[in-house]
Amino acid sequence: MRSPPDTSEFDTPSRILMGPGPSMIAPRVLRAMSTQALGYMDPAFLEIMDDIQELLRYTFQTDNEWTLATSGTGTAAMETAIGNLIEPGDTMLVPTNGYFGDRMGKIARRAGGDVVTVDAPWGEPLQPADVAAAFDEHQPDVFGFIHAETSTGVRQPNVSEMTDIAHDHDALVLADCVTSLSGVELRLDEWGIDAAYGSPQKCLSCTPGATPLTMNDRAREKVLNRETDTGSWYLDLDLVMEYWGDERNYHHTAPTTNFYGLREALRLVAEEGLENRWERHREVAGELREGLQRLGLDPAAEKEYWLPSLNTIEVPDGVDDTAVIEFLMQEYDIEIASGLGDLEGDVWRIGCMGYSARRQNVACLLTAMEDALEAQNFDVGETPIEA
Ligand SMILES: Cc1ncc(COP(=O)(O)O)c(C=O)c1O
Repeated sequence: MRSPPDTSEFDTPSRILMGPGPSMIAPRVLRAMSTQALGYMDPAFLEIMDDIQELLRYTFQTDNEWTLATSGTGTAAMETAIGNLIEPGDTMLVPTNGYFGDRMGKIARRAGGDVVTVDAPWGEPLQPADVAAAFDEHQPDVFGFIHAETSTGVRQPNVSEMTDIAHDHDALVLADCVTSLSGVELRLDEWGIDAAYGSPQKCLSCTPGATPLTMNDRAREKVLNRETDTGSWYLDLDLVMEYWGDERNYHHTAPTTNFYGLREALRLVAEEGLENRWERHREVAGELREGLQRLGLDPAAEKEYWLPSLNTIEVPDGVDDTAVIEFLMQEYDIEIASGLGDLEGDVWRIGCMGYSARRQNVACLLTAMEDALEAQNFDVGETPIEA
């Protein structure tokens, strides 16, 4: 007989989360998530799902009927989108300019797709001319891109130009909006994006677990007319939509409290107003970017395609990036993160998302960063900032 493990209470430390996600949970979301469970067919719960769909349509700026929350994290939504849109033998075009474009390719390959790439250096966005050349060369069925690349802090501009190219070649466009949804300008229908997913735990300031996903009619037709079943039964959208749509057939038990939280997070977006929220992220992250520049640090992403929700900052020569991260955590209870993939050791990643995107957090982070750099003997004299 095993003896019971230690059951003493774990005192969760109180942190300021300024990393690449999760962001801090909005207090109203926390309260909503502590509400008692409802059955998955309870009319009150179905009403909550209806609310989520309508609020998501607003947040994505889309009229898509197929708009829902996937049960799982961002990667589950990525698997759902790719696994349903890609059939064995289809070709998917993915970018090489960041960690998550690469993940799209890995998932497409597992779905039986042929994966081809459009190249751009890490830290730069895709160029429409390169996308056009890749289309001419490979004739892909689906083009996937990352609207907000969390590994590089790059926001992809020229989205409409890229979707026009894809549609001229009769292809579908899938956008990863994990780090942009509700924090950065995103207009799904106007920009011609056929399918997209976001994240609850970034700019929405909810917990991971129920992830926004949407597809327009063109994408839905492709899913409904597949010659082969989707590889995953759990993530098969045709079946999942039987629960989210009018049929209300049981497919799997919904993550109850995640739905409560997501609904509340989306209500907060609607109350603030999308454009105000985009502007708040730009303003607060702008103060962060300028404050760090004043300390003598350089942003890694050009202002032109800077991503307010995720700021990559170059680690200066002679400074130990990990020591700074540990200092911030130990002395100030602030979380930031190191670089990911190709940029490991070269940059810090500082998030400015949702409930974390507040001036008081920026002020605290700048003070903490100044201390951390001084502890490394880095000269933090006043540095003029870029125009
Ligand atoms: C751009 C992007 N796509 C996908 C994911 C995967 O999301 P998750 O870690 O919630 O599965 C992340 C996670 O940070 C991300 O930043």
